[in-house]
Amino acid sequence: MSGTGPATTQMSSNPGTGPGPLLDIRELCVEFGEGARAFHALNGVNLAVAPAAAIAILGESGCGKSVTSLAVTGLLGRSGRVTGGSISFNGHDLLGMSKQALNRVRGVEIGMIFQDALSALNPTLTVGYQMRELLRTRMGLSRSAARTRAKELLDAVGIADPGRCARSFPHQLSGGMRQRVLIAMAVSLEPKLLICDEPTTALDATIQAQVIELLKTLRRDMNMSLIFITHDVGVAAEIADDVAVMYAGRVIECGPVRDVFDNPAHPYTKALLGARPAAAEGGRTLATLPGAVPDLVRVPDGCLFEPRCARRADRCRAEYPALLPISANHASACHFREEVVNERP
Ligand SMILES: Nc1ncnc2c1ncn2[C@@H]1O[C@H](COP(=O)(O)OP(=O)(O)OP(=O)(O)O)[C@@H](O)[C@H]1O
Ligand SMILES: [Mg+2]
Repeated sequence: MSGTGPATTQMSSNPGTGPGPLLDIRELCVEFGEGARAFHALNGVNLAVAPAAAIAILGESGCGKSVTSLAVTGLLGRSGRVTGGSISFNGHDLLGMSKQALNRVRGVEIGMIFQDALSALNPTLTVGYQMRELLRTRMGLSRSAARTRAKELLDAVGIADPGRCARSFPHQLSGGMRQRVLIAMAVSLEPKLLICDEPTTALDATIQAQVIELLKTLRRDMNMSLIFITHDVGVAAEIADDVAVMYAGRVIECGPVRDVFDNPAHPYTKALLGARPAAAEGGRTLATLPGAVPDLVRVPDGCLFEPRCARRADRCRAEYPALLPISANHASACHFREEVVNERP
């Protein structure tokens, strides 16, 4: 595994001054598959999220964004296994915790919202029932307190008629309403960290903007940290303080949104931001770059982006570039990060 040591805390939005990161992922490796087809979907991921900070994770399809969030929430399933690294949450080692302690942290202190709200809700139970059960079992509320709280929460996420919504089954609600319900359920447990995996991708632009606005308000009001996984550069800039760009199972650039987007220090980030976005997507989502993401079964020694990189040199094939600082809070995993950041567009 390539070491990155000192850059691990580069994602913290208040390094050095405030408390340590709420979530601190170091050199995380996750493997899928068996025997000759085994591969590392994550290959030394470093990511830190400060208390109350919002970070966006950007990257092409298959680069490991969802696997990172599933590893944190313990939802990798039986086919995925953590083979190295650490995940610390609020000072506790998540990978070494007892099942019981882990259950309390995951699902209460860490909330998660997925892209597909319909499959995240039980189709056979009303929204109100599902919310009340969650509040009763996870927050210890009485039946009547849970009923009141569920309505308050539906109201807080901007649902006009909370009573009617509570009596509805998931399929009777629009996509935007369902996503609001999921947000209400996730924040009902008052998590310290909310992970949103492309929660607005399936929604139309107006509803998407409303849901983003809602998440921003909730985050501020509840003092939550947020990890927001997205393909949309505009959304990342809108919602996040920091951004982490992933490529082939690693974070290859991270830092404050403005630094990374205005002065990218990795050729991959630069290519993503500079390439012409798909017109059909309204011009905001990540473009598809020429070439393909490498086969993770046969990972080369050097930089994984090298075959697609305009700047490649012999050194890039021989030696994996560690994620190292380019400025105080901005880090890049490129041997030529100084040159790249100083290049004129
Ligand atoms: N359950 C699984 N079994 C086998 N391989 C998996 C599994 N889940 C993910 N992978 C693989 O792990 C890699 C990372 O996948 P991941 O879902 O994290 O990508 P992503 O960045 O979230 O992509 P997208 O933007 O398409 O959601 C991919 O090669 C994917 O095929
Ligand atoms: Mg994904």
